[in-house]
Amino acid sequence: MTNESGFKRTLVTSALPYANGYIHLGHIAGAYLPADIYVRYKRLRGDRVLYVGGSDEYGVPITLTALKEGVSPREVIDRYHAANEEAFRRLGISYDIYGRTSWDLHIDTTQSFFLRLLDGGYIHQEEMELWYSPQSDKYLPDRYVKGTCPKCGYEDANGDECERCGAQYAAKDLVQPRANIPGDTSTPILRKSRHWFLDLPKFADRLRAWLDGHPEWRTNVKGIAYGWVNDLRPRCITRDTDWGVPIPVDAPDAASKRIYVWFDAPIGYVTNTRQWGVDRLGDPHAWELWWKDSATRMIHFIGKDNIPFHAVIFPAMLMGQGDYILADHVVGNEYLNIFNRQTGQAEKGSKSRGNMISVKWAVEHLPLDAIRYYLCAIAPESKDSSFDWDDLMFRYNGELCDVVGNFVHRSLTMTVKNFDGAVPPAKALDAEDSTMLAAIPEQVDAIAESLENFRFRQALERLIDLGRKANVYFDAKQPWVTRKTDTARTGTTLHVCCQVVKALCHAMAPFLPDGAHALAEIIGTALPEGGPDGGPDGWNAAKEALPAGSPLQTPQVLFPKLDKDRITELAEMHERGEAF
Ligand code: 2FM
Ligand code: ZN
Repeated sequence: MTNESGFKRTLVTSALPYANGYIHLGHIAGAYLPADIYVRYKRLRGDRVLYVGGSDEYGVPITLTALKEGVSPREVIDRYHAANEEAFRRLGISYDIYGRTSWDLHIDTTQSFFLRLLDGGYIHQEEMELWYSPQSDKYLPDRYVKGTCPKCGYEDANGDECERCGAQYAAKDLVQPRANIPGDTSTPILRKSRHWFLDLPKFADRLRAWLDGHPEWRTNVKGIAYGWVNDLRPRCITRDTDWGVPIPVDAPDAASKRIYVWFDAPIGYVTNTRQWGVDRLGDPHAWELWWKDSATRMIHFIGKDNIPFHAVIFPAMLMGQGDYILADHVVGNEYLNIFNRQTGQAEKGSKSRGNMISVKWAVEHLPLDAIRYYLCAIAPESKDSSFDWDDLMFRYNGELCDVVGNFVHRSLTMTVKNFDGAVPPAKALDAEDSTMLAAIPEQVDAIAESLENFRFRQALERLIDLGRKANVYFDAKQPWVTRKTDTARTGTTLHVCCQVVKALCHAMAPFLPDGAHALAEIIGTALPEGGPDGGPDGWNAAKEALPAGSPLQTPQVLFPKLDKDRITELAEMHERGEAF
């Protein structure tokens, strides 16, 4: 099947989280839930779609965690990879594969990327001065060294960038450096080391032309990407460490270094697609269709800190391969903060504040659809947003439960009771019936339009709007009154309601898989699973009739309301730092 834009298939990626900590709701609202909603929508439409994710398992974030915990990097990644894969599964994030950059196959993919760039003249070596700890007898890459920011004077700045003022600088410019290694009290010294650099300026024209071809991207992504492209410099892609992909060149200084994690991480998307092809199809070449055929539409979902890597550096690496496609969309999200009820302010989620909510904790304490509903309703699409317990309760109870859940429940309960558990026939349609029926395709198409444009909050609002319109219709037709006097009229009203219930069932499926599947069971409609091979169109099926006579099961409450006392209890657990 070909969609409107001429693409035959869609490859969706979500940023690979570092396997050095538990995934939390801040991550989910940006790079994962929107991607999952999009993928579920595409699958339901019957489009061919492949959703690739996994753990990012190399680099300083992992070795620093290992060092601080006094365990091996392997122990760290095994623990967090398994935990995060499970957390995503429980939240319904429906990856086709959740891979690992520590797989052997990833060494092969990464080295092949490196060698092709080297052969193409895009990689060269340069000597640089780096901080070195005499006490630990090692170089101090990235966050292994801290010091005072040369720009703003912040005393806890990282080796190459300052968290406070955002400045990026050469490590040697850091003022009063100190090793970020427990027990290391020596003063770091500058030492020379030869490294490999990706010659980004060689891609400037091609990158600019590619960005120019995508005026539809969000302004945050375009702003950051153009900022980088207008000031490209060669970028160091190796580090003095033993935890990473080996550098595939026969040089004396290669053995003590590894490829930089931000070079290998996005290549993880390729590796994981390769592994998916082997596992699912037994075909080691299946991945090439997804990465090299111009009829594939690739879409990256990321948080804003990942924008330069997905909108500049990785595309340059793909350009340098010669035969890879580039992303057609980079969906960059802002941050989800946490509302602090004590201070009345939104604050950043951070380990030291203990204010983060892990996915594992959330799925154990809240209904899945409540989490998904709220995180989509407040998705930080164009600006930061914040998680607030009262807001969660008001929005989920007041919108999803009271509007959609209530409409579905009263429609089905009344139908089952008064029409022998089956959809009644429609007799003469009046203007209100026709307007309600006409709103179904309009609203379903409007939701699709929002999803196609990556406006997930708007898509969800449009879903709720359909529920609102339906409640207005229900109240106007008063079937609880007409049932005493006019069976034909009541049947027609409830017939129309059943059509809206069906539309809601299909249209809610990408957002709220639990509720949708429970409802599909009750009304006997099919929500096709689709996948990389495509399938029947279960999205536009929302607009097809649920015929008179279709049997209905006894309805159950799809979205149980959240209780105020329970929410207070959960908010207090969160405040005590018990939600992680
Ligand atoms: O920011 C992060 O958590 C990185 N591990 C994201 C990597 S995204 C991709 F390139 F793999
Ligand atoms: Zn600074």
